[in-house]
Amino acid sequence: MTNTREIASEILQRIYKKQHLDKICENEPNFKKLDQRDKNFVRLTILETLRRNIQIDTIIKRFLTKPLEYKRIKIQNLLRISICQILFLKVSEYAVVNTTVEIAKKYKFHKLVNAILRNVCRQKKQLFNEFGNLSNLPSWILKDLKKNLSPTEIKQISKVIVEEPELNLKIKKSYIKFKNWEVIMNGKFIESDILLTKNNGKINKLPFFDEGLWWVQGLSSSLPVKCLDNLFPISQRKERKILEVCAAPGGKTAQLVDYGFQSISLDISEYRINQLKTNLDRLDYKPEIICTDFLNYNPDQKFDAILLDAPCSASGLIQKKPEILVINKQTDLKKLMVEQNRLLEYSKEFVKKDGYIIYCVCSINNCEGYEQINKFLKANKNFSSVNHVDSIKKYGRILSDNMLQIYPKRFKFSDNINGYLDGFFISILKKEKNS
Ligand SMILES: C[S@@+](CC[C@H](N)C(=O)[O-])C[C@H]1O[C@@H](n2cnc3c(N)ncnc32)[C@H](O)[C@@H]1O
Repeated sequence: MTNTREIASEILQRIYKKQHLDKICENEPNFKKLDQRDKNFVRLTILETLRRNIQIDTIIKRFLTKPLEYKRIKIQNLLRISICQILFLKVSEYAVVNTTVEIAKKYKFHKLVNAILRNVCRQKKQLFNEFGNLSNLPSWILKDLKKNLSPTEIKQISKVIVEEPELNLKIKKSYIKFKNWEVIMNGKFIESDILLTKNNGKINKLPFFDEGLWWVQGLSSSLPVKCLDNLFPISQRKERKILEVCAAPGGKTAQLVDYGFQSISLDISEYRINQLKTNLDRLDYKPEIICTDFLNYNPDQKFDAILLDAPCSASGLIQKKPEILVINKQTDLKKLMVEQNRLLEYSKEFVKKDGYIIYCVCSINNCEGYEQINKFLKANKNFSSVNHVDSIKKYGRILSDNMLQIYPKRFKFSDNINGYLDGFFISILKKEKNS
């Protein structure tokens, strides 16, 4: 099998079965055989198909007299890929229809595929007008968004998640002044140490990758460590003990070292801890790393702060990882909420009086952020939720009790720079009394 459309539809099928795009691409022999140009095209098609999954499936339904049976899933995915290319990627209709019909002959479904794709080509403009603005947000996300946002605000999120996001690079603090990063990376600084640039798909080919002078980190995801940066003056950092729970693959670990904190970074997953070590080796950073379940960890000391980046649905990353849009996480959500609460409750024992828990999740679901912290504050009256500084607040919305929720959006950093922000939730909890 060498045709890019067939490869794309096979990969898509596995994503619908909850496999990760990056992992499939690493191991799929047919994908690995493609040249770089075709690889990029296959990835682009899959990402766009996932981002527009509800629009595309609604169009397919319009042309089917009865739904395709489950065993015809290959045909469904071929149609998804082809419709995406015709309507949204503006690929030559002739090429798409001809090759897809050829592939469908193997499954004896070429007549149906031919009829549907020719109808799509004929009605292209009308379909685009009718379905181009339909929301692609799944119900398990929408349900929670409706609790805080107006229909217009939800519409804005739907609009932004179908765009290709830019890349954010965190530049090592000690190297910011010594190079003209905006010229070297063809980008713009959007925070003192975060640079926004175009995503060309080849991270390890960017300048100074091998030298380890930067790493990829979204601005939203850098904010929890920026909270610590605001809480503890530089002069106190060497004495402050920070425990980072759920640390891998290490974006925030690198940032903690970069900002001069003494941190212990801990994660349950051996695979992800190895990724963290590889990432930090490239940067030549050497914090203390522990691979264990936090719920079995019994340190003999208390910490000035615990940074808890809890496991979550990742619904804040739907633009960067659109596979999240097609996997129903309703059941996972319940399990995650239990785990988040257990991690939070366990953290409180190891925080010094006047110390902090920074709780964060890359989620836009209320139940993983706002409701989780509300529950914790009700059960733990010796903790209070502390104000975020204005420089961080500006990126999101303050829900009650100083909790910060960032929604996926385009943010205007200055008159001529605007860029994409991931969804994120951050709460700073202060231990006012020991119990
Ligand atoms: C959101 S990711 C962390 C991302 C990371 N902080 C970063 O910035 O690169 C959540 C992590 O929690 C870890 N995790 C889940 N349950 C855990 C537990 N009980 N103890 C320790 N780590 C856990 C997972 O292995 C996963 O790496």
